[in-house]
Amino acid sequence: MKITRRGFVETVGLGTAAGVLSDTSFFGRQANAQTRVESQSGVYDGGIMQLNQNESARGPGPKTMEALHSHITKRVGRGYSPDHVRELQQAIANYYGIETGNVLLGTGSTPLLQGSARAFCSADKPIVAAAPTYATSMQTARRIGAEVKEVKVDSKGSIDLNGMAEAAHGAGLVYFCNPNNPTGTVHGRQAVDGFVRRVMRESPGTIVHMDEAYINYADPGAMETALPLALEFENVFVTRSFSKAHGIAGLRVGYALGQEQTLDVIRNAWGMGDINMLGAIAAITALEDKEHIEWERKENAEIRAFTIAAFRNMGYEVADCHTNHIFVNVRRPASEFRAACLEQKILVGRDFPPMHNTHCRISLGSREEMEKAVQVFQQILA
Ligand SMILES: Cc1ncc(COP(=O)(O)O)c(C=O)c1O
Repeated sequence: MKITRRGFVETVGLGTAAGVLSDTSFFGRQANAQTRVESQSGVYDGGIMQLNQNESARGPGPKTMEALHSHITKRVGRGYSPDHVRELQQAIANYYGIETGNVLLGTGSTPLLQGSARAFCSADKPIVAAAPTYATSMQTARRIGAEVKEVKVDSKGSIDLNGMAEAAHGAGLVYFCNPNNPTGTVHGRQAVDGFVRRVMRESPGTIVHMDEAYINYADPGAMETALPLALEFENVFVTRSFSKAHGIAGLRVGYALGQEQTLDVIRNAWGMGDINMLGAIAAITALEDKEHIEWERKENAEIRAFTIAAFRNMGYEVADCHTNHIFVNVRRPASEFRAACLEQKILVGRDFPPMHNTHCRISLGSREEMEKAVQVFQQILA
């Protein structure tokens, strides 16, 4: 069954009665969406729908694509000139109204996660994190012999801030993913502020890392960046990624924001890689294209609401997600659900212990992909 635009809107509960979208505005946006999607056909290979990693299903926006095309010239033979990389650092600083010293670039945010675990954890300096959460920092900490203290999320998939603050006593690093991967849950300004100040007060030697890779997908008003806290406290820093809403995962650009001396410690602990000139140009354009990011947020939010509604209509619980992925209680091991989806040529998320026996993370594809995927999920879970 093909889900029509009307069906999509009704499932999501955004009918015209609510006045949210008229058909005219939808077709206007749809045409726009088509133009944006067109240039990335061929991204998804082998006929397998990739709902297993949280990259943007739509790739870069049109301005970013244009900037990339116009910079593929013989000039790439002169790649050692760091012009565009410095420009990117400056563009990020301007964007937030901070100094370039408050910005540390990485080839994706991954080296920043690895570097910070190496910088702040050791055999007697544990890392504290929610369980489940994004694993890179903990994997690095384990590799260097640091203890990993995991604090299970609550029954709604939300990070237990009280438990995290208690576990933080004497820790080297607290990793706080907001919104959280895989659960998609978010903490607002007051909660984050209270948590950070409590850790700073009760465990002054502990560093708090706020990973905001998915911030651009959060509903308006649901959260704010922790950048003001990172500028206030030497022991707080934020990381961001261009791999999600900005749609350039394959170009590998991310950054950390914080006090210069804190970022220096991270930079000295681990290589951050070299950003290439195309990555830098794409990142500058994507960062400054606020209109596209807003379009991407709204597009993802509609697709997310449609997909969540489909699961809830079948009686399956889904966490309140603010990301481009959802975390579903499929009431069976994720491995079982994954295998059934793969038989239908859909890849869904890996195991996320300790919830892997009940929950599966599903990354959100394009509108068209999720219409197809929902039919497969309905067949499997019926
Ligand atoms: C929460 C979170 N942080 C960081 C990353 C790393 O992304 P990248 O290295 O592409 O910036 C990811 C990737 O999925 C993520 O989910």
